[in-house]
Amino acid sequence: MAPSLPLDEKSIFTATQLLAAGDLVAFPTETVYGLGADARNGTAVAKIFAAKGRPSFNPLISHVATADAAFALGQETDIALALATAFWPGPLTLILHRADDCPIALLTSAGLDKIAVRVPAHSGAQRLLHAFDGPIAAPSANPSGQISPSRAAHVIAGLGDKVPLILDDGPCESGIESTIVDCTGPIATILRPGGITRTEISAVLSAAGLASTAEASAPIIDQQSPASPGQMESHYAPTKLVRLNVTTPLPGDEFIGFGAISGLGELNLTLSHSGDLAEAAANLFEMLHAADASSRATVAIAPIPQEGLGEAINDRLSRAAAPRPT
Ligand code: TXA
Ligand code: MG
Repeated sequence: MAPSLPLDEKSIFTATQLLAAGDLVAFPTETVYGLGADARNGTAVAKIFAAKGRPSFNPLISHVATADAAFALGQETDIALALATAFWPGPLTLILHRADDCPIALLTSAGLDKIAVRVPAHSGAQRLLHAFDGPIAAPSANPSGQISPSRAAHVIAGLGDKVPLILDDGPCESGIESTIVDCTGPIATILRPGGITRTEISAVLSAAGLASTAEASAPIIDQQSPASPGQMESHYAPTKLVRLNVTTPLPGDEFIGFGAISGLGELNLTLSHSGDLAEAAANLFEMLHAADASSRATVAIAPIPQEGLGEAINDRLSRAAAPRPT
């Protein structure tokens, strides 16, 4: 059973030590409890997917203490600045292009070149983020497919044996997740409705002169289906042909190994020599990018066991290898 501690100076200090060591910490926000890891540490982030039992790698929101910290990670746009000024700290998540030298691990954004950032208003979350002084990746702290947790007892019931520390600061105010707005295009796009309403967002953008002309047509577009970018076409897929479950690579392959089967090619990439699925998950998107950029014509990948995180890895790989339009 995971220790659930009242959120105070002492437990926050313990939490920062766990996060720095690559461990998970569940913490409250004003929407729901989050299952946090250092967003810069791919191996730590892999533990989130393992603990939740997520069958695929949905990109995660990185939580930071201030808008300045958010815009050090993602590129500021007029729309993003207007919304951040109006609603941060609060239940709003902005999708931004990665900033140059963005330290967020590729697994956190599931290989996408856009990141999700949020500045929560909850005082306990704020204290943790200030103390940790780095971005904390966190989905809702529930097993995949189950209901989001609005109190520490829910986290204990769902993930108690998988999280070393749960910071308990009572029930969350809202229980409804943050509104997600993509700020990377010429108009704001609501990807998920949430704590901040469409009307509130529209009003701010209109007042800033960012939506007024387009408002009559469609200043804000919903993209509720498919719900997850992990299912969207825009999701990262290598440009080269990808073959899976390969044990004997062909000449011309950039071959990515796993376990006893070592990588071969220009880069000799192996997801995990020891066969550790968390390590493989942390390396997956980095190595797909690297293989795609290598001098070899095709990408081949060794078999990954369909167990634990292997299910999510194989889900992602099968998308990368799926036939695409020519
Ligand atoms: O209120 C909330 O947002 C809570 C608290 C813990 O902050 N978090 C939360 O996380 O609801 P999660 O993982 O359940 O939902 C994150 C959503 C997913 O639907 C994911 O697809 C989307 O954010 N998302 C993350 N990164 C994205 C990106 N780069 N582009 C588009 N959508 C993204
Ligand atoms: Mg969720």
